[in-house]
Amino acid sequence: MLREPFYDPQKSYEENYEKGPFGVFQNPEKYQNQGDPQFDFFGNKVYLPFGIPAGPLLNGRFVKAALDMGFDIAVYKTVRTGAYPCHPWPNVVPINLQDSLTLERAEEGVTAKNDYTEPLTITNSFGVPSTDPEVWQKDLANAVKYAGDGQVVIGSFQGTKKGDGNVDAFVSDFVLGARLVKKTGAKVLEVNFSCPNEGTAHLLCFDIPMVKRISEEIKNEIGNTPLVIKIAYYKDQDTLKNLVQMVGKIVDGISAINTIGTAVRKVDGEQALPGEGRLVSGACGEGIKWAGLEMTKRLHDLREELGMKFTIVGVGGVSNAKDFKRYRDAGADAVMSATGAMWNPMLAREIKEKLADK
Ligand SMILES: Cc1cc2nc3c(=O)[nH]c(=O)nc-3n(C[C@H](O)[C@H](O)[C@H](O)COP(=O)(O)O)c2cc1C
Repeated sequence: MLREPFYDPQKSYEENYEKGPFGVFQNPEKYQNQGDPQFDFFGNKVYLPFGIPAGPLLNGRFVKAALDMGFDIAVYKTVRTGAYPCHPWPNVVPINLQDSLTLERAEEGVTAKNDYTEPLTITNSFGVPSTDPEVWQKDLANAVKYAGDGQVVIGSFQGTKKGDGNVDAFVSDFVLGARLVKKTGAKVLEVNFSCPNEGTAHLLCFDIPMVKRISEEIKNEIGNTPLVIKIAYYKDQDTLKNLVQMVGKIVDGISAINTIGTAVRKVDGEQALPGEGRLVSGACGEGIKWAGLEMTKRLHDLREELGMKFTIVGVGGVSNAKDFKRYRDAGADAVMSATGAMWNPMLAREIKEKLADK
């Protein structure tokens, strides 16, 4: 069942940032867990290895509401080392799709629909906006402190390409991002290698030598603090295997998947998201569940085959307790939901109650 979303797509990103969250997240009643937290998540105990991935939790108020609502892992939206503007409104649009967004379907492009109805697949296009570190560091540090027993807040970040294309400067910006996030006290860091708005055809996660270099440099900076890399769907198994071989012992976790890029048009054929470079944007929600599940299973099998230990975070199209279980059965150590949680802020409670019923 879809409820009032805690991020209101009818409003601008700035208005959501300043006035949100909305719906039941506005005034959450604190969820009471039973017993002690039992699940391990990077050496921290959590009540349920379930949470909200990077994106919908725009700032500390959103993160705190998510924790209160029983999401035990909350990722603070990806930040940068300097202020960065958001793409113009709209930033979220529902997609007319009854079933899976297969790669063939994504290649053809999709059409927007008017209402947020089930099955819910959306596109999101923000461009990874950020405040200055002075603003987000204080806010994130507060959110980290707010996490109760059995809960973890993750700090997500990425580097910014400068106009001159200087690769060393780009890598250094990732390292600076990691240093700034670590200073907030976040117990786990996540680096976003899969932002579709930085060029869908050239996602950083497919440039494996670069992923290795940046991951190594970040780990040299942050030491024992766990590092998760956020990656996209890999069509090619050899490329995925190569990635795991190259970085599976450097990083502590792999989170998959981010969105799947597709051209989104209105019924009349006009581009749904206005502005240059915005015809193709990232789709998420129900339609990409197949891809998140498949990647989870493939990462799980590769981890076994290569004798590695990294943690697997399964993301994509989770909207109920059955989806959570399917991801766990596929090999996810932790599971996250962005679209599903946005339109059902009760999702963590519902999953906990369903699991307790058994
Ligand atoms: C509103 C919104 C904003 C997002 N922003 C980010 C982001 O800043 N960084 C990131 O790594 N992923 C971002 N994502 C991608 C999600 O973390 C997730 O990988 C993707 O939405 C698939 O999960 P879902 O099907 O549960 O939505 C965003 C997703 C949504 C819906």
